[in-house]
Amino acid sequence: MKYVQLGNTDLKVSKVCLGCMGFGDASKGMHSWTLPYDESKKMIKYALDQGINFFDTAMAYQGGTSEIYLGKAIKEYANRADVVIATKFHGRTKEQIQQGITAKEHIETCLNNSLKRLQMDYVDLYILHAWDNLTPIEETLEALNEVVRQGKVRYIGVSNCYAWQIAKANEIAKRNGWAPFVSVQGHYNLIFREEEREMKPYCDLHNVALTPYSSLASGRLAKHPGESSKRMQEDTYAKGKYDATADADLKIIKRVEELSQKKNVSMTEISLAWLMNKVCSPIVGATKTSHIDGAVKATNLILSDDEMNYLEELYVPHALVGVMASNK
Ligand SMILES: NC(=O)c1ccc[n+]([C@@H]2O[C@H](COP(=O)([O-])OP(=O)(O)OC[C@H]3O[C@@H](n4cnc5c(N)ncnc54)[C@H](OP(=O)(O)O)[C@@H]3O)[C@@H](O)[C@H]2O)c1
Repeated sequence: MKYVQLGNTDLKVSKVCLGCMGFGDASKGMHSWTLPYDESKKMIKYALDQGINFFDTAMAYQGGTSEIYLGKAIKEYANRADVVIATKFHGRTKEQIQQGITAKEHIETCLNNSLKRLQMDYVDLYILHAWDNLTPIEETLEALNEVVRQGKVRYIGVSNCYAWQIAKANEIAKRNGWAPFVSVQGHYNLIFREEEREMKPYCDLHNVALTPYSSLASGRLAKHPGESSKRMQEDTYAKGKYDATADADLKIIKRVEELSQKKNVSMTEISLAWLMNKVCSPIVGATKTSHIDGAVKATNLILSDDEMNYLEELYVPHALVGVMASNK
């Protein structure tokens, strides 16, 4: 396994981050295809055995059960100090604001609940899951700085935002001596490259770590066209992100397939090796141990400039989808 520095932090993370959205109680959240605990723990142990030390979850995943499963497995199979744990929180709802709950109270409550579910006394990376348009960023940053100061959080990150939003936030943090966002978890893969317009140049310039999600387009960049799975059939959230552009995307997926045959490697390896060239550590979801093997192998695959260009040249700009479509 290769390890890289997470942006401007002292955290060394594996070049692959294991996404834990697929681990959790399938009856408790938005996904019907998630793995129960006994299968999830095998995946987490397998990832640890391959040298993966970086894990991403969220309070929102399957009603908190993803955090519970991750925390339990880490306790059983790893030393807390040897792993880098990222979890995410959402800003207040309109109802919570009307009830008079402050941003500080909300963040403290969310974090304490996540720590309890994870059975941990700190997280390495605490991520704002989606830009919070209901709360002035100053209030969010001050509250986050406080939990960093208390030692419950080592670093903070942000997910699903525009480059101007993190640029503004980190300028405010700098002015106030508060903890800045050190990482961005955005939607970025070979068939969705909108992060290249503004976010990637911003992050490269400031050494903010890019840790993209849906690195394999929720399976589309790992499977041969037409290949299916329980998740491919049931994941309506991913369908909402990719169905509208499926025809244009298929041309790129076919190039991934073609190159994988030429180089005698899996499609996963091609897709992830491309992304690993661009970012710090992609977040990859897995429902089988063989999926983890593919991600690990990708860390050793070198693509030439011509191969990178061949994979890139058919991309056409996409409208924003998923969480970013509602960042208004
Ligand atoms: N911040 C956010 O808003 C946000 C949003 C989404 C996700 N995330 C994070 O990012 C992580 C990954 O996202 P994701 O699950 O959408 O995307 P992904 O990594 O693009 O896709 C994972 C899926 O790809 C398939 N796959 C992986 N390796 C494969 C292989 N070798 N062969 C065939 N299929 C393979 C599996 O599909 P099957 O299970 O169908 O076989 C797996 O479930 C999540 O777990 C979560 O931590 C964050």
